[in-house]
Amino acid sequence: MSKKFFITTMGCQMNEYDSDFLAQTLVRSGYRPVEDPSLADVILINTCTVRAKPEQKAYSLLGRMSAMKGGKPGVVLGVIGCLAQQQGSELIKRFPKLDFVLGPRALSKINDTIHRLKTVGGKVVATDLTAEPPQSVACQGYFHGRISAYLSVMEGCNNFCSYCIVPFVRGREISRSPDAILLEAKNLISQGVKEITLLGQNVNSYRWKHGKRDNFVDLLRALNDLDGLLRLRFTTSHPKDLSDALIRCFGDLDRLCPHIHLPFQAGSNSVLQGMRRNYTREDFIELTDKLRRVLPDIAITSDVMVGFPGELENDFQMTLDLVKRVQFDALFSFKYSDRRGTFAEKMLPKVNEVDKSLRLLALQTLQRQITLRKNRALEGRVLEVLVEGPSRRGGQLSGRTGSNKIVNFNIDNIMLGSLVHVKIKRAFLNSLRGNIRGEKSAVKADREVA
Ligand code: SAH
Ligand code: SF4
Ligand code: F3S
Repeated sequence: MSKKFFITTMGCQMNEYDSDFLAQTLVRSGYRPVEDPSLADVILINTCTVRAKPEQKAYSLLGRMSAMKGGKPGVVLGVIGCLAQQQGSELIKRFPKLDFVLGPRALSKINDTIHRLKTVGGKVVATDLTAEPPQSVACQGYFHGRISAYLSVMEGCNNFCSYCIVPFVRGREISRSPDAILLEAKNLISQGVKEITLLGQNVNSYRWKHGKRDNFVDLLRALNDLDGLLRLRFTTSHPKDLSDALIRCFGDLDRLCPHIHLPFQAGSNSVLQGMRRNYTREDFIELTDKLRRVLPDIAITSDVMVGFPGELENDFQMTLDLVKRVQFDALFSFKYSDRRGTFAEKMLPKVNEVDKSLRLLALQTLQRQITLRKNRALEGRVLEVLVEGPSRRGGQLSGRTGSNKIVNFNIDNIMLGSLVHVKIKRAFLNSLRGNIRGEKSAVKADREVA
């Protein structure tokens, strides 16, 4: 009987990519994945610590999984990801049933770790952040049936925004070689993947010193030329590094989806300065104008925080004002929370929880109106949709537009993974509904078609 593993993932796309890396490594070693942790020989929890909420969620899951492991002999329980990196052996003190803790740069030690635990016993903690990030294992067949996949192009972050834990738990920036990235992309495509999202904490700082394709724009151009790839996306871009050359790619590259995720974090210049973001609200607005000059229909999404230390009501009004001015397609908004060891942890005065909640509510109410208005403007238009699978509620097919909006539409004889034209009938806050108009014959621009 083959050995079984269970893996659960919190946090950002980076963690999902890492979980796929671990899963592929284990599959190659003869394990198979299970969805019920009580059946698994190896239980893995991939954690996030970017805010207080995901950290708490990770602790409660660790408690539940420790209880589930109970006295079962032979079951191995491990924690990986950013909380693992931050807490190291402290996690084992707090959860004695834990067998190992691996940080994001120690994931290739997974097989050795399990082997050591089964033979020698004890505990394993590996959190060396100077190690090379793990390289993909390209396990043939693992991505069969997947339409979309992530591909990491760089790891770590050098920006040290004053509120952010990521540079402390993911280490310094390191880019992967274009050859390795292209090889991984071809491998994904050969397994049926149609859409690739390139990942990095700040993809604009992608740099490879030893070859032709030395920056992110060159890399995008090379990927855009790959046969069989229908869509290309990337995340996340930092406004301070978003070059004109990269903006032009949205006009030039036919596979590059008309969507950018561009976090602005705050609308007030004094808050932005305290955050050490290195741009002003005026710079940010100018960037979004430039993007829309190159591609008028480009979808722009963003991240924003309320309640950064020292944020006054007037600062918050500047955030609302920026949101009104830019008209994002979607916004991920968070209450600021102190992260241990960051510069902002020591900044005063802190904003109280009630004000943070009120500000978040006002921001989300405003954004809901904008998102709904933008979605309703799509009613009656025909959009190109990549068919991804059954809709969440069933009875329909579901896919996404190039602008990353979910579209549910009538079932047809359409293959998963193909591009279709859908006429939008109704728009909601989180999805669109429409009727299929036919399959797209040639793969060209991923834009509105009528
Ligand atoms: N690399 C990306 C984002 C990484 S973290 C970037 O530079 O934009 C994802 C989001 O979490 C951030 O954009 C920010 O809005 C939020 N975030 C990060 N640290 C936070 C903190 N201490 N409190 C609240 N939100 C935070
Ligand atoms: Fe964090 Fe800033 Fe780096 Fe993004 S750019 S990961 S917010 S330090
Ligand atoms: Fe969380 Fe780490 Fe991503 S802290 S947001 S999982 S880089």
